[in-house]
Amino acid sequence: MTIMEAVVPKGERIVVAVDGPAGAGKGAVCRSAAARFGLSYLETGALYRAVGLIATRTGLTGTLELARIAATMPFAYRALGAGCYAAFLGEEEVTLALRAEEVGQAASRVAALSEVRAALLGFQRRYGAGTDLILDGRDVGTQVWPDADLKIFLTASLEERARRRALELQERGEAVNLTELIARMAERDARDAGRAHAPMAAAPGAVVVDTTAMTLAESCQAVIDRIARLMRRS
Ligand code: DC
Repeated sequence: MTIMEAVVPKGERIVVAVDGPAGAGKGAVCRSAAARFGLSYLETGALYRAVGLIATRTGLTGTLELARIAATMPFAYRALGAGCYAAFLGEEEVTLALRAEEVGQAASRVAALSEVRAALLGFQRRYGAGTDLILDGRDVGTQVWPDADLKIFLTASLEERARRRALELQERGEAVNLTELIARMAERDARDAGRAHAPMAAAPGAVVVDTTAMTLAESCQAVIDRIARLMRRS
């Protein structure tokens, strides 16, 4: 990946941008919509997490070093079928390693650096070239695909998002302290929304979907209904 890569024009295809804070259900909702409509899917957070993982492993913290990692890492994101997606760094599958809480925190820190963000932009814009596409992240609707056909800001209360994340961690057999989790999520939200470059925000024209009182199935349906309406129009 290099910083200066050309942007692939959107053309006639449909691009759906889903942004929002951690734990709002973006991943599950996007996977379900991708399966329903045959869209390509990219979890853009995986790119920032991959940089965070390499930074954690190598101990590198300098901006130029991190930007270089972002520009040269052999990152790949692949659909495995049946709604499963996997992230790779070269030959190594890092899907699970990327989910670790400390890697999420490291991702949020490296994501504040404009040099890192610039280095990751080309990959996000080229991904799924020519196909109908759904992407989730923090700045997809504001920076990556500002001309997306549909922009959604998926959110939920901090407590509800922490409760969902706690369940996910417990299912993986990890010990959870809910109070600590809430504090760490609040810290990450504040960093992601408060940074100077491409802060997490609902894009102009985005539909805000608050999933606090919704089941996962209801959240998926809310987004699927919007995409279905879009497809009927086009
Ligand atoms: O969506 P996630 O939790 O996997 O993202 C991890 C971090 O990466 C998040 O805290 C902020 C950063 N990120 C970003 O800055 N921009 C994106 N489009 C996606 C993620």
